[in-house]
Amino acid sequence: MSIGTFISFEGIDGAGKSTHIARVADLFSQAGRAVVLTREPGGTPVSEKLRELVLHEPMDPLTEALLMFAARREHLVQVIEPALVRGDVVLCDRFTDATFAYQGGGRGFDWQVLGALERMVQQRPIQDPSSVSDPHAGHDRAGGNPSLRQPDLTVWFDLDPLIAAQRLASARVPDKFESQPADFFAAVRAGYARRLAEMPSRFARIDAAQAMEAVGADVTRIVRDWLHRRAP
Ligand code: TYD
Repeated sequence: MSIGTFISFEGIDGAGKSTHIARVADLFSQAGRAVVLTREPGGTPVSEKLRELVLHEPMDPLTEALLMFAARREHLVQVIEPALVRGDVVLCDRFTDATFAYQGGGRGFDWQVLGALERMVQQRPIQDPSSVSDPHAGHDRAGGNPSLRQPDLTVWFDLDPLIAAQRLASARVPDKFESQPADFFAAVRAGYARRLAEMPSRFARIDAAQAMEAVGADVTRIVRDWLHRRAP
């Protein structure tokens, strides 16, 4: 049975989510929960190798989408699903919504094809059906397709791409995605908005243009309220 908590964090590059994920981890640790902090693409040795490729090598859009989902499959099987079965809290810096936003919105890759890949990769049960007995497989608290593994809660740091670009300008050497122009990120943002519209019950949108402390306060409130509502 899957009894853990799965929370993902999303937003365009420069939206500032990383700092706040650590804060949410502290919140759960203080409440005595075991926390698994992870990220996509990445989170396993194989997935981290795929991350190196997709973040730095130019490639065909279908190849890019397939590698994102390949990395995700490995991550789900090796890390996310076992943690949820143990009852841990999984905090994931990006998940499938990023593929819809970046490859779907940003690159203009076919939304329906991404949906087919999502179903293939996230169909429950994730592990070999003969090795797990999960009475809750097929029951998804978060809405959407009931038989897919999805985050229970997705915190979306929503930010105007022009502000994000200003924040990133001084930050670091950009990777393949970070070096995209502002209109790419406007399309990524629209991709996130479309995912929210498709699955509103698991999304919480935060105005990431606020000062960092205000964003942090929003994140804490959202997670606390959500846990409160979810409590039996
Ligand atoms: P990011 O999460 O921003 O990590 P860091 O803070 O270390 O730069 O980088 C991951 C990049 O990969 C980001 O630009 C979004 C992109 N990405 C996709 O294009 N599709 C996906 O499915 C995922 C998970 C990420």
